[in-house]
Amino acid sequence: MSVRVRVPAKVNVQLAVGGARPDGFHDLANVFLAVGLYDEITVTPADELRVACSGPYAAQVPLDRTNLAARAALTLAQRRGLDPAVHIHIAKDIPVAGGMAGGSADGAGALLACDALWGTGASREELLEICAELGSDVPFSLVGGAALGIGRGEKLTALEVGGTFHWVFAMAEGGLSTPAVFREFDRMAQGREVPEPVASAELLEALAEGDADALAAAVSNDLQPAALSLFPELAQTLEAGREAGALAELVSGSGPTTAFLARDAEAAEKVAEALRASGTCRAVRVAAGPVAGATVL
Ligand code: C5P
Repeated sequence: MSVRVRVPAKVNVQLAVGGARPDGFHDLANVFLAVGLYDEITVTPADELRVACSGPYAAQVPLDRTNLAARAALTLAQRRGLDPAVHIHIAKDIPVAGGMAGGSADGAGALLACDALWGTGASREELLEICAELGSDVPFSLVGGAALGIGRGEKLTALEVGGTFHWVFAMAEGGLSTPAVFREFDRMAQGREVPEPVASAELLEALAEGDADALAAAVSNDLQPAALSLFPELAQTLEAGREAGALAELVSGSGPTTAFLARDAEAAEKVAEALRASGTCRAVRVAAGPVAGATVL
């Protein structure tokens, strides 16, 4: 018997970053939106814990115990005194090290799949607690939809969304390490006061109203200057999307994937075509959100 779980990618429509905390993390006001680009995690009983990955980004995925899917299985097994003897297969469609929570999706997916396979009966609260142990973005991969994350980004409040937002994602040649982008943020912030991160009232209202123009005016990412500093070529991708008529363009999370908001599905296809023709990125995908979080299929 196997259990298969589908988990979406995310885009941060707002990523407000505070100063570095004593534990090295940063306080955030992080507005997540789950979008319809998915990894599928399948867990099957086996002799021992093993991770395999397929799909266009498979070569970049670590298959050892640093993989968040393996860590999720180990953590749940340890809590229940079980042997984590499963084969975890990741069908990967979310870019790796792209700022779209691909690794977090695999952690949340493997956790939900192992919970179902082993019949551990963990409560939603316990699953969310394990997710937060695995990483700051993992709880959101479990819940999906739209949410405001505070603290490290792991303390979530679900947000109302009054419509569907259409996005185009441009995958860059190569990845960016999230810790490296936060370090660059700290370096660039040296000598200036970093304000407390707060969610934008205009942005939350735009989400609630399903108003793409208002959302376009309100999106922001405090990590964008740091991502651009480490990956200057992204400026050309952002410009190509803007010229193609995107309502807004921004770096997704810590990058280097760039995200473009379009008025509707048709406009998104046009922006995607122009980005593909621009030669400024490796691949282009269209996806809408919000969508549900990790789901057993
Ligand atoms: O929580 P997660 O393991 O995904 O975080 C990866 C890295 O991103 C952390 O080690 C830290 O360098 C940085 N980070 C941060 N502040 C956050 C979330 C992540 O500095 N709120």
